[in-house]
Amino acid sequence: MSSKTYPDKHTTTSYEPSRIVPSTAEWIERAAKDLLQGVIAAFPTETVYGLAGLVTSEEAIASIFALKGRPSSNPLIVHLASTRHIEDVAALNTPLLRRRVELLYPLIPGPLSLILPAIDGRTSPAVRAGGNTVAIRIPRHPVAQALLKQVGRPLAAPSANRSTRVSPTRASHVLGEFPSAGLLILDGGPCEIGLESTVLDLTTPRPTILRPGFITKEALEEALGEPVSELPEAQAQTSTAGIAKSPGLSTIHYAPQTPLYLRHQWYELGQKPHNMGWISFHPSEPVPQMAKETRVLSKRGDLDEAAAQLYEVLRELDECRLDAIIVGDIPEHGVGVAIFDRLRRASRR
Ligand code: TXA
Ligand code: MG
Repeated sequence: MSSKTYPDKHTTTSYEPSRIVPSTAEWIERAAKDLLQGVIAAFPTETVYGLAGLVTSEEAIASIFALKGRPSSNPLIVHLASTRHIEDVAALNTPLLRRRVELLYPLIPGPLSLILPAIDGRTSPAVRAGGNTVAIRIPRHPVAQALLKQVGRPLAAPSANRSTRVSPTRASHVLGEFPSAGLLILDGGPCEIGLESTVLDLTTPRPTILRPGFITKEALEEALGEPVSELPEAQAQTSTAGIAKSPGLSTIHYAPQTPLYLRHQWYELGQKPHNMGWISFHPSEPVPQMAKETRVLSKRGDLDEAAAQLYEVLRELDECRLDAIIVGDIPEHGVGVAIFDRLRRASRR
């Protein structure tokens, strides 16, 4: 990132309060006007809340990186109103690529981001972290849709949290992350899915999942009619042309401030802090009696409900002044794969 300075309103040194506003037509119009002028704003999507800026505004994009404390090597997802706009920013430059994208239309709009070859000059280079690919996503949340239509241009939007932290699933979480950044935060209520989109790379010979999400490998294989690979963790950290294949997967991420342990890590710990909280997937799971706080992700043992609850519960326990948060076993199928992926990254030290 350059050392250029930007209007106070967008930087972490600003003390102008951020504010949550209802997602009425008037507020969406106001947010759209701000965005068109290069001012950033937060908005709801079906996955998590995003921090949006015009893809062509160097200033807005620099503000997003600065506010999040995000490394400039980690590219942003470009949000579009509909599939009609994909080729505004990405080149579907082979018949195979075009066919793969079209086969995915039944899953779009929705919680799916596609990595595609970028068209030069359509997004600020910082959005792509200087690389030659671009991530696109068409969110289905009605407020996100309304905002994108009103702006009429693509919006870069990472999750609206400080880098490495838990993504926000409510407007109040965004306010908690950036209380004094002068941000307009459109309130869309709690996010339905609660986990970030599946990131699928279509620039590789075989479609490859860079970040698991609500849209599973099986659903992608069914839509595409071909096998889909998953990026082995070691490779997520290998740099190609300066950017990691999926930087969001490479370091500690999605983490509460309280140290988080998976059940097996906890049992392997020699000296265990007493002041601990326990998160279980299902009420039938045995929980050690010494746990000071306990939470259940889904009373009926449903993975979708668990995904929607996860970040909220992590934030809640983070407020409890515990020395450790332990998470019990999550079934590793369906969206459980994505839940487990986030927990593994949150538990890295
Ligand atoms: O659900 C979501 O995807 C949310 C909402 C707001 O849409 N957004 C989100 O953005 O999670 P962010 O920036 O927190 O995560 C974007 C992920 C990161 O892991 C990033 O490295 C990866 O997408 N990514 C973005 N552009 C990429 C590219 N060109 N190549 C590889 N990975 C890319
Ligand atoms: Mg994020």
